[in-house]
Amino acid sequence: MGISFQNVEYKYPGIKRKSFTLALENINLNINKEGEFIAIVGKTGSGKSTLLQHMNALKLPSSGKVKIFDYEITNKKRKNPKLKDVRKNVGFVFQFPEYQLFEDTVIKDIMFAPKNFGFKKEDAEKEAINVMKLLHITNLKDKSPFNLSGGQMRKVAIAGVLAYNPEIVLLDEPTRGLDPKGQEEIMELFNDIHKKTNKTFVMITHDMDIVYKYATRVVVLNDTKITYDGNKEDLFKDNTYLENHLSKPNVLLLIDYLNEKLNLNLDYDSYDINELLGKLGDINE
Ligand SMILES: Nc1ncnc2c1ncn2[C@@H]1O[C@H](COP(=O)(O)OP(=O)(O)OP(=O)(O)O)[C@@H](O)[C@H]1O
Ligand SMILES: [Mg+2]
Repeated sequence: MGISFQNVEYKYPGIKRKSFTLALENINLNINKEGEFIAIVGKTGSGKSTLLQHMNALKLPSSGKVKIFDYEITNKKRKNPKLKDVRKNVGFVFQFPEYQLFEDTVIKDIMFAPKNFGFKKEDAEKEAINVMKLLHITNLKDKSPFNLSGGQMRKVAIAGVLAYNPEIVLLDEPTRGLDPKGQEEIMELFNDIHKKTNKTFVMITHDMDIVYKYATRVVVLNDTKITYDGNKEDLFKDNTYLENHLSKPNVLLLIDYLNEKLNLNLDYDSYDINELLGKLGDINE
């Protein structure tokens, strides 16, 4: 098992004494160490980022237990393992990457985590140069990470995590702020790494087309609770997605349209976009 949640609840402390905001309740979830590409979706404020932050002990549960590989995390700080050991296995790219960057050049920033986790300086540099190439940001190497655009900062933060090759990669809205080509490139890169290494990725996104193209499993949050955990086809087959404030992926809207217009019975789990577009030609208005 990679990461498991047992009855986890999380409360953010409020301003007034004893007040709080309940962000997660009754969370039970198992994530395999290998082979998963999980999308976490749900409306704004539903608890997605808070959930992801529990997966590498950035947040400790208010009650319940999170197991991360062999480490058990509870709210009893003193009993918890060294968090550095946990975080070496589980890499995290924040929702707001500007909070993650701090060195004076991009390359130093990308080398920071590998060095911190025990890579020799030369090896950290080699990895940094390699991931910069993969992410097409070699040109930013000597710039200050604070003088970059939001999308460039996001890529640097992603590079910093890929550089130390954690077993599981957590991504909070990784495509946010990137242009369409950048979004596709980065999703293809994650997908490639996932296919080649069988590494598990857990990604928060609001983009249902990305969910439909890449995710092997979808976890839906709604007002602090998990309301769906399963495959993407079933999520969009009935009204479950609507009740959870989600939209239907474009490719499924196209399948619905073709099924209605041509009286077909195309399945949600087998499609080839070019084949579908070809069928559009059969419609006589
Ligand atoms: N630092 C904080 N202090 C107090 N409450 C917080 C804090 N961060 C988040 N919350 C509250 O916890 C709940 C869950 O927030 P969270 O950021 O996990 O949502 P989210 O699903 O990631 O939303 P989004 O899609 O907007 O990123 C919300 O009610 C939010 O207002
Ligand atoms: Mg969030």
